[in-house]
Amino acid sequence: MTKICCIGAGYVGGPTMAMIAKKCPDVQVMVVDINEERIAAWQTDDLPIYEPGLLDVVQEARGRNLFFSTDVDQGIRDADIVFVSVNTPTKTFGEGAGCASDLQYWELCARRIKEVSTSDKIIVEKSTLPVRTAEAMERVLHSGDNPVHFEVLSNPEFLAEGTAVADLENPDRVLIGGHETGSGQKALQTLVDIYATWIPRERILTANVWSSELSKLTANAFLAQRVSSINAISALCEATGADVADVAHAIGTDSRIGAKFLKASIGFGGSCFKKDILNLVYLCESYGLQAPADYWRQVVAMNEYQETRFVKTMLQSMFNTIAGKRIAIFGFAFKADTGDTRESPAIRVCRELAGEHAEVVVSDPKALDNARLELPDLLDQIEFDEDPYAAAEGAHAIALLTEWKQYKELDFQRIYDSMTKPAFIFDGRNMLDHQALFNIGFEVYSIGKGRKTHLK
Ligand code: NAD
Ligand code: UGA
Repeated sequence: MTKICCIGAGYVGGPTMAMIAKKCPDVQVMVVDINEERIAAWQTDDLPIYEPGLLDVVQEARGRNLFFSTDVDQGIRDADIVFVSVNTPTKTFGEGAGCASDLQYWELCARRIKEVSTSDKIIVEKSTLPVRTAEAMERVLHSGDNPVHFEVLSNPEFLAEGTAVADLENPDRVLIGGHETGSGQKALQTLVDIYATWIPRERILTANVWSSELSKLTANAFLAQRVSSINAISALCEATGADVADVAHAIGTDSRIGAKFLKASIGFGGSCFKKDILNLVYLCESYGLQAPADYWRQVVAMNEYQETRFVKTMLQSMFNTIAGKRIAIFGFAFKADTGDTRESPAIRVCRELAGEHAEVVVSDPKALDNARLELPDLLDQIEFDEDPYAAAEGAHAIALLTEWKQYKELDFQRIYDSMTKPAFIFDGRNMLDHQALFNIGFEVYSIGKGRKTHLK
């Protein structure tokens, strides 16, 4: 029986391993983490992350061939294949601070693997890493006099939060990078065979390790760039009377452009887009490629502009003062169907509103615990209430920041009746029926569309 160990039981390690275990009953999967609370939660039905459909997948395999443990060393020792899926955040200190990836968690894993292994292993980079990380890892793994052989593969993950289960079950592609040596190709084939249990072989792409590492950063950079591009156009739409949804539709029907990732919004969030682009910027700079670095940095700059622009619109439309005004935030997660708040645009919006002395009330169906963790210094200034009706009561304005589908179904007449007038609504996701809101009496502002206001 093939034995897999995955180091890191987070948003990627947990779901990916649960899917492998579900699809490959003859593979034993052990997920290990140093975070005891997370490991304990994976063993209950109250999973540590919210992801639609994930509990069913976990329940099918847990206790059969899917296990969770804090015994990292034992997990590594027993495994034939070790996936490393630890966090690789942006470095906050020293050389490359604010740009480069912080590889300390990855390197700690490599050292641990080297330390405790007594048999040959395939090591799989699941975390998103800078190009040529595998080379550094191989040096760490093969340092000293341990005779064990480690073959490093790159197998970046492309799942998106909120749709992780569908993405893992039916991915556009799986990418595996291996060395062009005999042992590299053998290891690569071992991993291909595992995925081929449920994914058609033509969708399992293979490449060399460096191409695989770089493809992951590039994919995220291209996706984020599309969001920044349409957001740049949204500002122009507001200035000219064009409608960004019409523009997105018109260009998206061109098969060369395609319709996806053209939704203008408050801005992209999530733990990866910004981090991975900055990593790409750092890589370009370290190879002396300043123009490509500047090009990609602009995608992040545009995103920050969009977030700040949203707050400016709120301030200006509410008579240039929001001090003492109650403002209800509908949605704090960085997108719908996740409780994840990392790099959520809501963080900046709430901070800027609090900086203007507004009374902010945050509402979200799944992300309030994480929201509190994002705003530790503002806990005495910001209220949290899961119930959007309660959050909006007495408010001067609502800012909708996450496209939770339940927000579409709210009774906005009831909400309007309970608010201070004039009642403003700022739809940061363009998901509500703006004409209906206007007819109720709201002052309606959205992204990249003309405002609908009763005030002249
Ligand atoms: P995460 O923070 O949710 O999980 C990482 C886990 O690793 C944590 O639970 C942490 O305790 C554990 N860990 C750290 N050091 C450890 C060590 N030395 N030993 C054991 N456990 C350790 O992160 P994530 O969102 O799952 O992301 C992991 C990687 O996958 C990142 O490189 C990220 O860029 C990439 N990625 C993330 C997503 C996503 O949607 N979140 C998608 C694709 C790729
Ligand atoms: C993204 C990628 O889609 C995944 O392929 C990748 O694996 C992952 O990053 C990663 O490496 O972490 P994720 O961040 O979970 O996935 O979610 P997305 O659906 O990509 O959305 C990212 C952000 O862009 C969200 O804030 C979303 O609201 C925003 N977005 C997306 C828009 O504003 N407009 C769009 O048209 C699409």
